Amino acid sequence: MQTRQHQLLNKFKQHNHNVNPFMPDASGQLVRVVGLTLEATGCRASVGSLCSIATMAGDLIAEVVGFDDKLLYLMPVEELRGVMPGAKVTPLGAQAGLNVGLSLLGRVLDGNGAPLDGLGHLHTDQKAPRHAAPINPLARRAITEPLDVGVRAINAMLTVGKGQRMGLFAGSGVGKSVLLGMMTRGTTADIIVVGLVGERGREVKEFIEEILGEEGRARSVVVAAPADTSPLMRLRACETSTRIAEYFRDLGYNVLLLMDSLTRYAQAQREIALAVGEPPATKGYPPSVFAKLPKLVERAGNGGVGQGSITAFYTVLTEGDDLQDPIADSARAILDGHIVLSRALADSGHYPAIDVEASISRVAPMVISEAHLEATRRVKQMYSLYQQNRDLISIGAYTQGSDPRIDNAIRLQPAMNAFLRQTMKESLSFDSCALMLGQLSAQCQG
Ligand SMILES: Nc1ncnc2c1ncn2[C@@H]1O[C@H](COP(=O)(O)OP(=O)(O)O)[C@@H](O)[C@H]1O
Ligand SMILES: [Mg+2]
Repeated sequence: MQTRQHQLLNKFKQHNHNVNPFMPDASGQLVRVVGLTLEATGCRASVGSLCSIATMAGDLIAEVVGFDDKLLYLMPVEELRGVMPGAKVTPLGAQAGLNVGLSLLGRVLDGNGAPLDGLGHLHTDQKAPRHAAPINPLARRAITEPLDVGVRAINAMLTVGKGQRMGLFAGSGVGKSVLLGMMTRGTTADIIVVGLVGERGREVKEFIEEILGEEGRARSVVVAAPADTSPLMRLRACETSTRIAEYFRDLGYNVLLLMDSLTRYAQAQREIALAVGEPPATKGYPPSVFAKLPKLVERAGNGGVGQGSITAFYTVLTEGDDLQDPIADSARAILDGHIVLSRALADSGHYPAIDVEASISRVAPMVISEAHLEATRRVKQMYSLYQQNRDLISIGAYTQGSDPRIDNAIRLQPAMNAFLRQTMKESLSFDSCALMLGQLSAQCQG
């Protein structure tokens, strides 16, 4: 006869596709539920480990997120349903490893790394521990090579280096997802890992089917945790996608990690931290949020000798030009550059709506030639000159001939706009972008 513990073990294995044995501790019981937080006594389990809770609706898996003396704080990984006072809580031990392997390509996974696409099992026996040891910063290779992302405005004006971590700052509906999709199709990276966190479910489907498309999907792994999943799942989706990127990087691949969005990651951590009683500090965000952000971001980057790279884009939501937003502030400080999407540009039909004046790639000077850098400067100057005088020009207050530099900027404005624009389906190689930039900058000089 199967014992209760065996049943639980099976349930646990099923849930985690796990084969690791564990050491169950004594069972405890549920004493309180506040919002999404469950409080249990009578059992011991470490933070980050899992427990099974016997409910009316079957066993519920929850993660230990904190404790206070003999009280354990748990959060359900799935929907919280059917719990009652005194429900039995059984510690299940540490989380199982993550399924990894090349067969992940083309698949869509949930926050735990289990398939979400209905295409059956992941055909892999390989397991990776959920937490990789951080790379010694001194052992990392320096960023020395550009990564082709297939988007002209970025390749030419905001060149991204292999191993760089960029922020994509924008409000909603200005073209973040479309831009990420363009990169998945146009990049020369070997493998693309996409984390879709906190989006509406419809957007996840749209991203996979329409924006990513067959071509992009074939060399991508998507990890999705839409807005209606538990905060733990959303948090984990970010960690799982980063972990999968690390796995491929360690095998020597150049990985492009696209995380949409870092703001939702911070919000999921805020939900959890506030629920277990951490005091809010900056704009409702508890301190642990600001500790977790750099931890996640630091995992991207170049590996050591013989390993590949993780070039990462993290989207950050900025509503209504709110520069005080603590997440945007914190992200700006820990990332190696940011691309700002402007609503004004998007509204005028200028896509991708990249504001080249407000954006910066901090590693560009290290990965492009002197000539390329000089051309970027020249075009940027010309572009800014036009922007500074735009109001005068548009109301007709500027008289042609009064400043030859402004005359030139007006003459070149259509060419600069055409250069920065790109349709959704177009992919442009790094070399062709650099060549066109050279031609444009020669005109700026002339
Ligand atoms: N490169 C582009 N070319 C044409 N239209 C675009 C482009 N990028 C975005 N758009 C338009 O903007 C809309 C919103 O883009 P989306 O990427 O979904 O925004 P976000 O992810 O920032 O909320 C798209 O549905 C599309 O109509
Ligand atoms: Mg989007």
